[in-house]
Amino acid sequence: MKVNLKGRSLLTLIDYSYEEIREIISVSHVLKKERKSGKNKMRFASRTLAMLFEKRSTRTRCAFETAIGEEGGHPVFLSMQDIHLGSKEAIEDTARVLGRMFDCIMFRGYKQETAELLMEYSGLPVYNGLTDEYHPTQALADIMTIEEEFKSLKGLKCVYIGDGRNNVANSLAVVCSKMGVHMTIITPEDLKPDNELIDLYQYFSKESGSEIQVTDSIEKGVAGAHVVYTDVWVSMGEEKKKKERIDLLSPYQVNGAVMNMTGRKETIFLHCLPAVKGQEVSEEVFEGPASRVWEQAENRKHTIKAILLLTL
Ligand code: CP
Ligand code: NVA
Repeated sequence: MKVNLKGRSLLTLIDYSYEEIREIISVSHVLKKERKSGKNKMRFASRTLAMLFEKRSTRTRCAFETAIGEEGGHPVFLSMQDIHLGSKEAIEDTARVLGRMFDCIMFRGYKQETAELLMEYSGLPVYNGLTDEYHPTQALADIMTIEEEFKSLKGLKCVYIGDGRNNVANSLAVVCSKMGVHMTIITPEDLKPDNELIDLYQYFSKESGSEIQVTDSIEKGVAGAHVVYTDVWVSMGEEKKKKERIDLLSPYQVNGAVMNMTGRKETIFLHCLPAVKGQEVSEEVFEGPASRVWEQAENRKHTIKAILLLTL
């Protein structure tokens, strides 16, 4: 069956099939090669993207802006300091105005519901550039980076160590379970994902032939990992929980000893960035030979360009 994503939003990845994710990743590889060879097609000429930010961003903003801009499209950056959304104007009203002016919307912010309302009221494809719950465009770059390294995905083991219920962990678990990658979330009891989510990941992994595990034991969880992934202990919007998180997660730092516990020479280290070196990851691992964090950051752009091309 031919994949057709025209007009689709990307809010969680939960509603994307194996074939659809496969197509996004395959197109991303082609786009990366094209970019490296200096080919420039103006595939987004006359296309416009509204970019709404309630939270800060370096990579996601730059990836969307350069992806659409280098092919002739026009991104418009709208932070909450600049527009009426969030203070004077209802989401539904802003969405209806954007729907009359733009071709698509990217939203980064707090509530998943805001992204859903933007989609419903604008009638445009809406891309989730991170909410408290999900970070789907990140997960696409992650899986592309893993495939680039190991050439195929099925049967690989990806281990996520840290805050097991944050946006990055959630989206990584969705994409791994759908794409046949075994995933282990290593996190303290208090930060385990909700049972409902674990059931969902297990449902996807059954279909794809992979396994999902959640454990609080680094030693048990990390053995055999091809990929060790971590993220900040305190996500944006959770600043008040800083002390509690450091206390809970200090034993879960990814360092040389943890990387050695995989028992594999070829294990790579991934991090969505920005990183707090010395907390979730040691300087040694972050800067070391296993780290692929810069490739991973670059792949944000290629995967986002693929989503734009396939959905617009
Ligand atoms: N990984 C990521 O989303 O980075 P930014 O917060 O810089 O966009
Ligand atoms: N979990 C992090 C990811 C940043 C890209 C956060 O939400 O702040």
